[in-house]
Amino acid sequence: MAPTSTICVLVLAIALFFPSIVFSGDAGVNYGRDGDDLPPPKQVIDFLTDEFKYKISLIRVYDANTDILEALSGTNLVVTIGVPNEAIAYVASSQEAADKWVQDHITTYIAKGVIFRYVCVGNEAIPGIVASFIEPAIRNLYTSIRIKAGIDYIFVTTAVGLNVLRESYPPSQGQFGPNVAQIMNNLVQYLYSIESPLLINVYPYRALVTEPEHISMDYALFQSQTPVVRDGNFEYYNLFDAMVDAFVAAMARVVGSDNFKLVVSESGWPTVGREPYSSVKNARVYNNNLREHAIVTGRTPRKADINMEVYISSMFNENFKSAEDEQCFGTFYNNFTQVYPLWCP
Ligand SMILES: *[C@@H]1O[C@H](CO)[C@@H](O)[C@H](O)[C@H]1NC(C)=O
Repeated sequence: MAPTSTICVLVLAIALFFPSIVFSGDAGVNYGRDGDDLPPPKQVIDFLTDEFKYKISLIRVYDANTDILEALSGTNLVVTIGVPNEAIAYVASSQEAADKWVQDHITTYIAKGVIFRYVCVGNEAIPGIVASFIEPAIRNLYTSIRIKAGIDYIFVTTAVGLNVLRESYPPSQGQFGPNVAQIMNNLVQYLYSIESPLLINVYPYRALVTEPEHISMDYALFQSQTPVVRDGNFEYYNLFDAMVDAFVAAMARVVGSDNFKLVVSESGWPTVGREPYSSVKNARVYNNNLREHAIVTGRTPRKADINMEVYISSMFNENFKSAEDEQCFGTFYNNFTQVYPLWCP
């Protein structure tokens, strides 16, 4: 692992000299608010754009809350905004409903200087009770944003977890599970046709705690010095790449090529909850290696053109989440000091 400072200098140099280009890869942060002891949105966004300027440029928020959107107005942060699961059926119900949602949450705030990149319809909502509304909601939002409002730089998509895959090992065997195959096949075809990436949530930590007898800590933490899995022509030194490439294989089965886009909308490691897997040390090692992998390597063994874009979970610990380890993915304390060195010093 290269020292964090090397990465920081590299990123800063690129950001200063080429402020508008898309990098080979980048790592942003997920700003979840599922807790009752978090600082107010304005304070969080002010911190990221003032004291912490240039260190994090990509941010994902899960709700389209007015306080957050107001706080993001006029900042340089590039924003992924969620359509919450409970709003999906409404947005899917008619073109007028989608137009109104876009007017209230997107175009109003573009006028106030918010830079949006992805509109993410639901988070891990497939399978689930709103799963069948996701594609109609994306179609309506695409029409509202791209066709009616003429905004050509925002991509409409959804985020899925590893539970949509039946097989993920070896990576080339990746395929969607029978329970979601019809929804995923149609959705992936549609996203491909509109050139939207699929957003995927990738947690080697969860695979490790589920199958510790089959997975080594080094492989999960990007610390293996030798390939752990050989799959055809590809060698895998880390589980993260293997998981991403399992999604690549599943999507390639549907569209008949590898020529589609993927974004890692969540990944991270908890500091507390399930020792020995969760720990401050493991979270520090995983997230630093993940960030370096995204920025410096920027690809998986199978997918050279992925321009790896990763959103690290998360900004803060969130005490309303269910399991203790789920609550403890935070990389900042509520007073904005880092839990461990991760983002540039
Ligand atoms: C911030 O909060 C953490 C956790 O409560 C604490 O350990 C640390 O000392 C605090 N830092 C400052 C500067 O107050």
